[in-house]
Amino acid sequence: MTMTSPAFAPATARMPRLRTYAMTPPIHYTVTYAINPWMDPSTPVDTDRAIAQWLALREVYESLGHSVHVVDPQPGLPDMVYAANGGLSAGNRTIAARFAFPERGPEGDHYADWFEAGGLGPVHRTDGIQEGEGDFLVIGDRILAGTGFRTHRDTHAEVAAITGMPVTTLELIDPRFYHLDTALGILDDEHIAYYPPAFSSASRSVLADLFPDAIIATDADAAVLGLNLVSDGLHVVMTDAAPDLTAALRAAGYEPIGVDLSELLKGGGGIKCCTLELRSTDKEVAVHTL
Ligand code: ARG
Repeated sequence: MTMTSPAFAPATARMPRLRTYAMTPPIHYTVTYAINPWMDPSTPVDTDRAIAQWLALREVYESLGHSVHVVDPQPGLPDMVYAANGGLSAGNRTIAARFAFPERGPEGDHYADWFEAGGLGPVHRTDGIQEGEGDFLVIGDRILAGTGFRTHRDTHAEVAAITGMPVTTLELIDPRFYHLDTALGILDDEHIAYYPPAFSSASRSVLADLFPDAIIATDADAAVLGLNLVSDGLHVVMTDAAPDLTAALRAAGYEPIGVDLSELLKGGGGIKCCTLELRSTDKEVAVHTL
């Protein structure tokens, strides 16, 4: 009799790594302007419900053993809840965002001040427009960088110079997927999930070459921002509304954890948008407000 491994066994044992995140509570969250196709100021927003959903997301991270540091939200900056856009912490460097739209412009200084106060400085500022981890996703010792709607292509070289990490440019072509983190999710140091139609054909080839075993999201997964996920290498915190992607991740040996962040989807953001990873290796994060 020959021994065969059961069909459901994952090819690789997935290993979680403890993370440190920054999150900004949606105290001032509302949709009063439209800077992406998801936003409609005529749709009512329930801020209390958004806060409850945000608290539940934070609890999921903490229950997994991750640390969450809370950024002070500012009145008049309703999109500040999307902390991933506030900056990039990578290569032992901290970069604060320079936003594309004036509505979000002042957030850059608030995030820079918060990084400084928390001992994450010196804070680097780019000359070019870039929206932090919305468009710069770290995978292992490389950065995948989006462009097309928000972050300017030239800024990719600035970020490579500041972090010392290689940056791979990816061009986004569908306005619904205006940030890289709406169309591509990092699962661990080597693996991604993504939605090919969000990318130019040249960028699709780059992704296919770099990640031949990537998980490919369906139209339905992408339409609920299923790829806007946060993984620690084993647990994948993601929307509870993307059953295809959830099943594909489980089949690949990950443990998806579904959360409902539907109130924040009205602003065009999901789980990853609300979560900025702090990766400084030799710095203690001192700020812990609220
Ligand atoms: N309303 C925000 C904007 O359009 C949503 C940002 C979502 N964040 C993200 N990382 N994709 O800028």
